[in-house]
Amino acid sequence: MADTADTADTADTADTAHTPHPEADWWRQAVVYQIYPRSFADSDGDGIGNIAGVTAKVPYLKSLGVDAVWLSPFYPSALADGGYDVDDYRDVDPKLGTLQEFDEMSAKLHEAGIRLIVDIVPNHSSNRHVWFQEALAAEPGSKARDRYVFRDGLGPDGDQPPSDWVSHFGGSAWTRVPDGQWYLHLFAPEQPDFDWSNPEVREDFRTTLRFWSDRGVDGFRVDVAHGLAKDLSEPLRSMPAIPEMDLVQDGSNPLFDRDEVHTIFSEWREVFNEYDPPRAAVAEAWVPTARRTLYARPTELGQAFNFDLLRADWDLEGFRKSITENLAESASTGASSTWVLSNHDVIRHRTRYALPQGIGLRGLDEWLLSDGHDPHPDDATGLRRATASTLLLLALPGSMYLYQGEELGLREVPDIPRDQLADPIWLRTGNQLKGRDGCRVPLPWSADRRAGGGSSFGFGGGGAHLPQPDWFGQFAVESEDADPDSVLNLYRRALKLRRELRGAETLEWVDDAAVLRFRRPGGWEVVTNFGTIPAPLPAGEVLVASSPITGDQLPGDTTVWLRTS
Ligand code: NOJ
Repeated sequence: MADTADTADTADTADTAHTPHPEADWWRQAVVYQIYPRSFADSDGDGIGNIAGVTAKVPYLKSLGVDAVWLSPFYPSALADGGYDVDDYRDVDPKLGTLQEFDEMSAKLHEAGIRLIVDIVPNHSSNRHVWFQEALAAEPGSKARDRYVFRDGLGPDGDQPPSDWVSHFGGSAWTRVPDGQWYLHLFAPEQPDFDWSNPEVREDFRTTLRFWSDRGVDGFRVDVAHGLAKDLSEPLRSMPAIPEMDLVQDGSNPLFDRDEVHTIFSEWREVFNEYDPPRAAVAEAWVPTARRTLYARPTELGQAFNFDLLRADWDLEGFRKSITENLAESASTGASSTWVLSNHDVIRHRTRYALPQGIGLRGLDEWLLSDGHDPHPDDATGLRRATASTLLLLALPGSMYLYQGEELGLREVPDIPRDQLADPIWLRTGNQLKGRDGCRVPLPWSADRRAGGGSSFGFGGGGAHLPQPDWFGQFAVESEDADPDSVLNLYRRALKLRRELRGAETLEWVDDAAVLRFRRPGGWEVVTNFGTIPAPLPAGEVLVASSPITGDQLPGDTTVWLRTS
């Protein structure tokens, strides 16, 4: 790939064993498209997207121009948490297909020049995993229980949880089993946490990494990477709230971002480096910027998701600061930066930008509870800012993670009937939070709901496992394909240009009080107008713009890429 020469070790050596694979760094500036498989495309009409559905859409992915696909969990699962409750790490959910179909999908993607990253979920298994079933059947204190975190309860009868730790989805992080012991689950009770100090757990995951690497998988997205190492020494320390991003790292947190976690990922790197090219990895680690790049060191995973802009307001200074910090942090460890605006856990960014600035996480939750009515979204602004921010992030050094449907400009579905919500957050919080279903509604492929004999806008020949609103038709791939000014065609133009322009991982800021402006190597410049009033358009040939440009003005809420030499 074009960018490889800029980042690879160019030392002249006759020792081929130490010559990096010419594509070893493919991931450093890749555009990675996240597929949430149950909601992408359904080839058998049962209402649930599947592996063969992905295979059938490889031409679409190629026409979009992505470098890689990240496939969210496709493993056997009872779907207590959308597949992040894994029954078996080395198989495909029969509802989604077979290992053979997985291999076919992988081959088709590779033929199309698209790499494949799979989700790996090491913090917890499902309660149906064979190890957890063995643990339940075994005695307290047995080896089978030591793979998970079993403890006696507090109080004279042991009927109080072993600590005050809380689950991300609400309620206690401990559940009691019939013989009186309790097990830890930082997420749903169906997701028991592993004990990563147990060598058997560590070895088993390395086996899983090899299993998928041997099948040709190019990389891994590591779920809850910051949660694996826990301080389980007695007495368990108090931690009555989930600290999330703003945690202070002073060793006081027994559950997250502990220094010991890094030895696990160094061991994983040894496995990744057994392959040529080495397998890539990206951490999901909700930790402060300066801590994040530790996970992304070349001796560990290589990348870690940067969620800063996914949480940021639409603000010039805020964006400039965040971009500067993130590039500097990545450079300091030799990692490559990552950029993300949407994924399967957050409200789609077109909708976030349509809501008032400063609304915050709590405000977003309340907006969902109002079924999307209060406050009323300003969709025109949402669309302008969504495309402007996407075009800005696509122009940065590093790699960009896109979430299925954002290339259609899809909005969040905030009014899924309550009795059809599937996210465990809804039940576990006693209906206080609606959760993440609104960004997981199956994609519309056809404008007509009845297309192909189904009732799901061409998602499949049947229905859809989460209900699609009537307005989905106007966002269908079919509708946008035909419209040169659609969001889909904007993404296609931008991704194609990005490939052509891709160069060294550097950026040079241009001083300009009115706009955010930077130069990239190879003679192109990027300008974003965060205001609502037009700003003077710098000289240069317009390569792509997020909103139409006429004359010498850059409209508000718009990004443009310019060729300057
Ligand atoms: C992060 C995943 O992105 C989310 O969807 C899941 O619920 C939790 N980890 C637990 O696995």
